[in-house]
Amino acid sequence: MEFPRLRLRRLRRNETLRRMVRETALTPDDFIYPLFVREGSGVRNPIASMPGQFQLSVDEAVKEARTAWDLGVPAVILFGIPDHKDPVGSGAYDDNGIVQRAVRAVKDAVPDLCVITDVCLCEYTDHGHCGVIRDGDVANDETLELLVREALSHVRAGADMVAPSDMMDGRVGAIRSALDAEGFGQIPVMAYAAKFASTFYGPFRDAAESPPKFGDRRSYQMDPANAEEALREVDLDIREGADIVMVKPALPYLDVIRRVKDTFGYPTAAYNVSGEYAMVKAMERLGWGDGAGLMMESLLSIKRAGADLILTYFALDAARLLQD
Ligand code: PBG
Repeated sequence: MEFPRLRLRRLRRNETLRRMVRETALTPDDFIYPLFVREGSGVRNPIASMPGQFQLSVDEAVKEARTAWDLGVPAVILFGIPDHKDPVGSGAYDDNGIVQRAVRAVKDAVPDLCVITDVCLCEYTDHGHCGVIRDGDVANDETLELLVREALSHVRAGADMVAPSDMMDGRVGAIRSALDAEGFGQIPVMAYAAKFASTFYGPFRDAAESPPKFGDRRSYQMDPANAEEALREVDLDIREGADIVMVKPALPYLDVIRRVKDTFGYPTAAYNVSGEYAMVKAMERLGWGDGAGLMMESLLSIKRAGADLILTYFALDAARLLQD
């Protein structure tokens, strides 16, 4: 059939028809909500570069987690902001650390919520890098031992899933083996498999107080130019035992999300990162775009690209909108 008999606009004429042929739908089940937890009580520190997001004390994080669950969001991912930092990130694997206490409190209050923990050292090291420093760079294998201790400590506190975000080689396998050896064979690993060295993490580093004090993360996070290598990273993490693979950031890497989903057919997550959130908030503030529209189009495009799960600061706002 050819134009004029072929007219694609016929199915766009009204909202009912558009609803009938819509290919992609978002639900709150797709979302994982990130929370930043710090010491204190009754603390809700606004994060300047992420309007609507806060550093929360454990009691406030519990309230936020309950709101997420009540809105149908099945999971949160916790990031810790410790009072004390040192060269080896001891706060990360302290059984009484900030994330460990937050996990216990959230699981206690909202037992069915899936509580995921971010496993990384950059929030806990005084130099802000994601591992131990030797000769001016992060020492891979030495760092693995600390990441394993951190993951085990989170799971002992009650975490339902761990998500290593450090980009050390071999960390998924090391964590998988340790979990299995300690009787945690049922705890899944969501690997930040293709994590790019991105400028879009800027606001997060304000939020988590974790910018590197020297250099940058390009010796461990991926070069934004590389998609073939992203597939090799994902392949490696799957072979090491990852249950869910993540691409991060999301919007600038939609091609990578699609290729990962098509190549491996694995549960695929995408992290709609802090800078992607801040961009929408900035446009909204400047009066340059409708915030809700920008938000939903961003999330929809990430899902359409092949993501089964989206880590997003928009989780609550989007869930509310989907409810109406
Ligand atoms: C920590 C980590 C980062 C993010 C998630 N885990 C920051 C980084 O690598 O510097 C970024 C999340 C965001 O920007 O929203 N390793």
